[in-house]
Amino acid sequence: MKIIVCENYQEMSSRAAEIIADLVKAKPSCVLGLATGSTPVGMYRELIAKTAAGEISFRDVTTYNLDEYYPIAPTHEQSYRYFMNENLFSHIDIDPERTFVPNGLTENPEEEGAAYDAAIEAAGGIDLQVLGIGQNGHIAFNEPDEALIAGTHITALTEDTIDANSRFFASRDDVPTRAFTMGIGSIMKAKKIILLANGANKHAAIAQMLDDKITTACPATFLKAHADVYLICDTAAYNG
Ligand code: F6R
Repeated sequence: MKIIVCENYQEMSSRAAEIIADLVKAKPSCVLGLATGSTPVGMYRELIAKTAAGEISFRDVTTYNLDEYYPIAPTHEQSYRYFMNENLFSHIDIDPERTFVPNGLTENPEEEGAAYDAAIEAAGGIDLQVLGIGQNGHIAFNEPDEALIAGTHITALTEDTIDANSRFFASRDDVPTRAFTMGIGSIMKAKKIILLANGANKHAAIAQMLDDKITTACPATFLKAHADVYLICDTAAYNG
């Protein structure tokens, strides 16, 4: 794992956006794996600015998001589809038909998960996957557990994650208790991964990921078995 420690959130966001911009320039039809949450918002702002400046174009880019609440409508303000439209897709020249987020309303979650992985493979696989990390070491919604699931699947969110995500909802009771998530296997198939982390509240998870052996108790530790991962974090996440 290559580690880039940045002074602050802005530098972390710029470094990550540069890596994506370089890929989009080198391979205009690349496939990106994208994350939601607070962490990548600054990076998305940078990508919007680079697109507006004519430095890059997303015309031929395809995106697959990591996860989506279940059940939730794409028009719900807290759905990850809505988040992506608001924070990135509506502000860049991407073809909306090439942006994929698991369907939070599907009546057949098992088929939806398998179909999502198959679609990623059919698109040529993910060239670059962006990840955030939960305070409990989760990546996407692969929560600490005795066993982890390889493919895209429906999972129950832990109480920790429901607590952490309740800041976006009117009340804790409104937070969906389940979500679609790419599995650890789906994520590890990406050719390159960038894991972003900022703030002291991520320090314990980052320290555990870097120090610990590979364990399902900290799903992010699996990233250490991938050949091309960058951890891009700020000093607070790195040093505490
Ligand atoms: C979001 C996702 C989650 C977040 C993680 C960190 O698509 O998969 O794993 O990356 O919960 O969230 P923030 O960035 O809000 O701290």
